[in-house]
Amino acid sequence: MKIFVKGVYQTNFGELWDKSLKDLILEAGLGAMKNAKIKANEIDLVIIGNKLSGKIDGQDHLGALAAEALKIKKGFRVEAACASGGMAVYQAVQAIKAGEVKTVLVIGAEKMTDKKNGEIAKALMGAASEEERRSGLSFVGLYALMAREYMEKFGAKKEDLAEIAVKNHKHASLNPKAHFPREININTVVSSGMVAEPLGLFDCSPISDGAAAAVISNKKGRVEIVASEISNDSLGLCERKSLVELKATQKASLRAYKKAGIKAEDIDIAEVHDCFTIAEVLAYEDLGFCKKGKGYKGINKPVNLSGGLKACGHPVGATGVKQIVEVVSHLKGEAGKRQIKKAKIGLVHNVGGTGGTAVVHILKGNL
Ligand code: COA
Repeated sequence: MKIFVKGVYQTNFGELWDKSLKDLILEAGLGAMKNAKIKANEIDLVIIGNKLSGKIDGQDHLGALAAEALKIKKGFRVEAACASGGMAVYQAVQAIKAGEVKTVLVIGAEKMTDKKNGEIAKALMGAASEEERRSGLSFVGLYALMAREYMEKFGAKKEDLAEIAVKNHKHASLNPKAHFPREININTVVSSGMVAEPLGLFDCSPISDGAAAAVISNKKGRVEIVASEISNDSLGLCERKSLVELKATQKASLRAYKKAGIKAEDIDIAEVHDCFTIAEVLAYEDLGFCKKGKGYKGINKPVNLSGGLKACGHPVGATGVKQIVEVVSHLKGEAGKRQIKKAKIGLVHNVGGTGGTAVVHILKGNL
């Protein structure tokens, strides 16, 4: 069975003090339905990707909330840490393939900036292992451990990682919906305040609010989801043989390439999970865009044209759906100033935790 993305929408990402989580869910859902030229009564199911709402706001029941607010027959919520959005898309594909439903509205949404950063950092650690939580680590600290190991093993420098942040801020400068739509230079990154050695403020994705949505259906559209794969690894880094690779990304992407009948080099455009600069380097390698240990030198592929998590922002549950929105926009030739030429095949890569979950989608356009 073929599955298509019929319409997409992204809200602004950033500190959206005037919008509640429900406002963001409504704006994204209605926006994607309008873009797909589809009405609520033509949608069989709404799936919400969200990580933190139950913990920080006391509101867990987002499926029912969205179904009621958008007047859709049924709905539920999916949680897979920072891969909640990607997992919601995966669930939509599975539900359609199972023949239970024909058209699904997927919404990724997160409201983070109303709380103190320390509270958010603690809540995010629900995606890590018990030992990591108890030892007082944060996600910046965990990725910093991976960065240190990578730099020692392959000789990468802070400046190499900084190039990722500079590139993604440059892309975000063309994205009016980005949290930080402005360019920065290498010096800004390497001289920014240290958060967890070697990762400074500008190596980190920010804490953001935002939502994104996609209408996914077995009715023909201009962009097809040709592969949708997930994989898991240990929650904790201590259980891993190597800190310089995400096995879950490797496994999910290999299966996705096989399903799509393509190779990594066939991908024209990708949105990858750059929660920290080191994460984008690892993604290049684990997705097969270059050899292990070479990613820090950069690659010849347009990656994170939205600005990535680093500069477009990272409202965690929304990210995996926003990545779909960005790639679909390019495949349809509707990406405005960021549009790249001749994009036919796109890849979306969304990670939960330090790679306990990885989701990879491959999309084909110009059908
Ligand atoms: N990149 C660029 N600028 C940033 C930024 C980022 N990641 N985070 C904050 N800023 C800016 C803010 O806009 C603010 O600027 P202003 O003073 O002009 O308004 C300034 O830096 C200070 O912001 P503040 O929120 O006080 O920073 P902080 O030190 O409390 O938090 C981090 C910074 C990096 C610790 C926080 O953004 C963070 O924890 N990020 C990681 C989130 C995470 O772990 N996500 C899950 C990934 S798996």
